[in-house]
Amino acid sequence: MAGLIPQDFIDDLIARADIVEVVGRRVPLKKAGREFKACCPFHGEKTPSFTVSPGKGFYHCFGCGAHGTAIGFLMEFDHMSFVEAIESLASSMGVEVPRNESDQPARHYDELFSLMDSVARHWQSCLKDAPAAVEYVKNRGIDGPTAKRFGIGYAPEGWSNVLDKFGKSDEAIEKLLATGLIIRKDNGKHYDRFRDRIMFPIRDARGRTIGFGGRVTGDDEPKYLNSPETVLFHKGRELYGLYEARQALRNIERLVVVEGYMDAVALARHGIDFSVATLGTATTSEHLNRLFRLTENVYFAFDGDRAGKKAAWRALENALPQVREGRQIRFVFLPDGHDPDSYVNEHGADTFIKIMDEGLALSEFLIEELTSQVDMKTVDGRARLAELAAPLINTIPAGIYRELLVESLAEAVGLTAAKLDGLLKDGSSAGETGRKRRPSAVRIRQQTLVAGSPSVVRRAITLVLNHPEAGQDLDVGKLGDLKRPGVDLLAALIEIVQAEPNITTAGLLERWRHDDQGRHLGKLAAMDVPSDEDFDPAAELADCLTQLATAGRKDRISFLIEKQRVNSLTDDELSELRQLN
Ligand code: UTP
Ligand code: MN
Repeated sequence: MAGLIPQDFIDDLIARADIVEVVGRRVPLKKAGREFKACCPFHGEKTPSFTVSPGKGFYHCFGCGAHGTAIGFLMEFDHMSFVEAIESLASSMGVEVPRNESDQPARHYDELFSLMDSVARHWQSCLKDAPAAVEYVKNRGIDGPTAKRFGIGYAPEGWSNVLDKFGKSDEAIEKLLATGLIIRKDNGKHYDRFRDRIMFPIRDARGRTIGFGGRVTGDDEPKYLNSPETVLFHKGRELYGLYEARQALRNIERLVVVEGYMDAVALARHGIDFSVATLGTATTSEHLNRLFRLTENVYFAFDGDRAGKKAAWRALENALPQVREGRQIRFVFLPDGHDPDSYVNEHGADTFIKIMDEGLALSEFLIEELTSQVDMKTVDGRARLAELAAPLINTIPAGIYRELLVESLAEAVGLTAAKLDGLLKDGSSAGETGRKRRPSAVRIRQQTLVAGSPSVVRRAITLVLNHPEAGQDLDVGKLGDLKRPGVDLLAALIEIVQAEPNITTAGLLERWRHDDQGRHLGKLAAMDVPSDEDFDPAAELADCLTQLATAGRKDRISFLIEKQRVNSLTDDELSELRQLN
């Protein structure tokens, strides 16, 4: 497979890339102070809130929250893969991309895409020659135009159809393996992955086939077989039908998320062009990011059974951090025994749209589900409800949406919103009522620390991100083994800026591209750090570190005191405690 691109090459590329030029070639930019502005290319707007900062090598939209580096911009705007974006950037700067472990040229990806495309077309033509398969597709209510639009095909019976047709050389076999179309046996021989299955090509945003789902026509197991994760295909990211929806619609007013290939196809067949399917995985935050970049209105249509409720709840949990004013999220639960496919075939598109519009708003679903878990008739039950809600509500960004949700919840538990909000903010301790209580002195001290530290960590991370040079002379060791959300990340950031003195904000963000925390870093990098005359980022950062070190020491003292109370301390611990005090 194509070798890994060395990290230092990416750092260097990002440091040298001119984000203003990269973005400016695609979106008209206007200079505004040290930055550049434009109407955001990722959501519809009339006043520009899309900002490009040449200093940080970074863009950010204050409207929709889109942000990223030059690489990220190419990925989003030109729908490139990570590697393609790097290659495109490198070639525009006249440099060649080195590879770590193998010399496979980057063209390799194009070849894989074109192989996938040929196989998809081959299977489409096989469908025409397989009357039984055609019969199956028809029986499922799919008509010719819909089958064509989704590129539905048929992989005939037999162990080596694809292998024989597309694997005529060693190199060709390697490509079939890399795309997951064939499987290698222990004895070194190969066979076709997909046999006697109806084939659904999965396409990326540009319409290129990146994977397949194959359904049996009878009762064999598994019902659906999917391409494995490959360099082209990442299940947790892709949404089946998204390309087709974008092709069909000029404006995507809403999107409905369903669970199955057949659901998306059946809805499209009935003229509901705005449906997408997750590929046998839960709805991830990456999915939601993509959805909300295209539309403000996202509906989830799940089966009405327990599995459907569970899937909906997972989707809700992942959606909470992304809810905000203007965005609408609804949950549609179908009657027992139905999925969107069977429902739309039985009741038609109008009825389906009607039940979509009557779906539960996210807030309603949240409250309904939580109240069903407690006894609302008792004071304890209602208190428990507040407890259950706290960790969820706390993931919602502050704003009107959150306030309204707290209000509805307060109403449900019979409290004033202010009182409930107080309880929610206390959330971290609310969950511990079942456990043994700590002595009150320690408890209070810990609470003040918990309340104070995250903002210090956040401030420190923001400073390092925006002023990488300020982290140069710090002693990360001071952080000890302080356990606070974000401290590990802060330490890692400082270690990188010390190892790579020339790294930029954008370079740091790229280091976290494949990490969940990357998204949060992007937000922090977009924050404006005040820069008046006596602003000294290095001094301020050092101050943050000192504060954190103090917090770490106090934590350790609390821990030792607590241990002394319930157990006993070793001699070493005793002398440590004396020293700390
Ligand atoms: P369902 O079992 O709900 O199937 O799986 P379905 O979509 O209603 O299929 P039909 O109507 O019987 O054809 C939902 C999704 O879960 C994944 C597939 O993506 C499927 O569309 N899945 C399901 C698998 O990956 N493998 C399986 O064996 C089953
Ligand atoms: Mn079904």
